[in-house]
Amino acid sequence: MENFNFYSPTFFAFGKGREKDCGELVKRFGGSRVLVHFGGGSVVRSGLLDRVKNSLRESGIFFCELGGVMPNPRSGLVYEGIRLCREEKIDFILAVGGGSTIDSAKAIAAGAVYDGDFWDFYQGKYIEEALPVGTVLTIAAAGSEGSPDSVITNEDGMIKRGASGDAIRPRFSVLNPELTETLPAYQTACGITDIVAHLYERYLTNSKDVEVTDRLIESLLLTMKTEAPKVMENLQDYEARANIMWAGMVAHNNIVGVGRSQDWTSHQIEHELSAQYDCAHGAGLAVTMPAVFLYNMKHDVMRFAQIAVRVWGCQMDFAHPERTAKEGIEALRSFLISIGMPKNFEELGAREEDIEKLAYTCCYGKGNEGGAVGGFVPLQQQDVEAIYRMML
Ligand code: NZQ
Ligand code: ZN
Repeated sequence: MENFNFYSPTFFAFGKGREKDCGELVKRFGGSRVLVHFGGGSVVRSGLLDRVKNSLRESGIFFCELGGVMPNPRSGLVYEGIRLCREEKIDFILAVGGGSTIDSAKAIAAGAVYDGDFWDFYQGKYIEEALPVGTVLTIAAAGSEGSPDSVITNEDGMIKRGASGDAIRPRFSVLNPELTETLPAYQTACGITDIVAHLYERYLTNSKDVEVTDRLIESLLLTMKTEAPKVMENLQDYEARANIMWAGMVAHNNIVGVGRSQDWTSHQIEHELSAQYDCAHGAGLAVTMPAVFLYNMKHDVMRFAQIAVRVWGCQMDFAHPERTAKEGIEALRSFLISIGMPKNFEELGAREEDIEKLAYTCCYGKGNEGGAVGGFVPLQQQDVEAIYRMML
């Protein structure tokens, strides 16, 4: 196991009705002038936004609002948010929504206290300082409610990149599984896929002797394997949604990723797809992951065989471990298809003729001028191109 730092100061308020505590939580974490940030309207239609605003009012907290965050959030609204924060002397940002809203809030939080262009952070500058952020999560997926990360698409060139810093880890996150019950089946499945991807990206490691994190990841994957069919069968299954919601946080606040190298190839390759075609991040990952894993399998067949046996229940073929490894990848693919995820470029709305450009942007686009992609196996542009072709 490698040396590591782990700092995860988020306060979690989990369970039914917890959004009514927002006002008290903002106060507890030092906010007095709040920007309430939200997406395209689901929180208005569900009545959640009103409940959150009432809670702020009851605690005597000033707030202003900025809605309109789109899935795969854009830089334009971030600039608007930064301006608003400065004009209104905002000292706390409350994101009410999914990963996109939370990521947009984090970008505004970092940009509002920074003299330069907030995009610097998405080109590799570490975020040292930010306004405090709180969240009320409405979809179990990105894990942004506990993570030090934010992913934004720059409208100048439609480049999607991530930024990081402990300063943008939320001060608190309200996790009420009931709030996710209004999600349509497809969006629910996209979230499940993203959570599964966050676990795989950490499982694919070159570090040795990482038994504790291996076992934690496996147990979370087993949880997803049993809870996902339940929620797909009954979208109002509170207990399944509760288990998935907490798994989504644990999968990505990095408690299961410490002390080990990580991969992130599938995410880097996928981000080009959701940036170019505006598909859901989870849907892009469903198509990307099996291709990446098959391409990289030979790098460490035993690691893929191990997850196949421990998670997907495959029988170990000691004479031909590559068969077991492949069986595990196919089991993952079948699982994703069974919950309604797309399986190829066409179903995702991606185009074969764009492959060269996608691979180039992935390897050399803004924020990744280094050329190589991925932590498990460093890949070059021609590898990335070959992987996109495997998705046809
Ligand atoms: O905008 P509204 O109207 O709220 O609708 C949203 C949106 O259309 C809808 N939705 C959310 N909660 C709902 C709901 N509809 C009905 N009922 C509810 N309870 O769902 C749609 C998707 O929302 P979004 O926030 O985009 O989903 P998600 O949480 O999957 O976030 C995806 C974004 O997170 C990034 C992705 O790249 C993508 O941009 N990621 C962020 C990470 C991080 N910050 O740590 C890590 C991830 O790997 C990921 O890259
Ligand atoms: Zn993700």
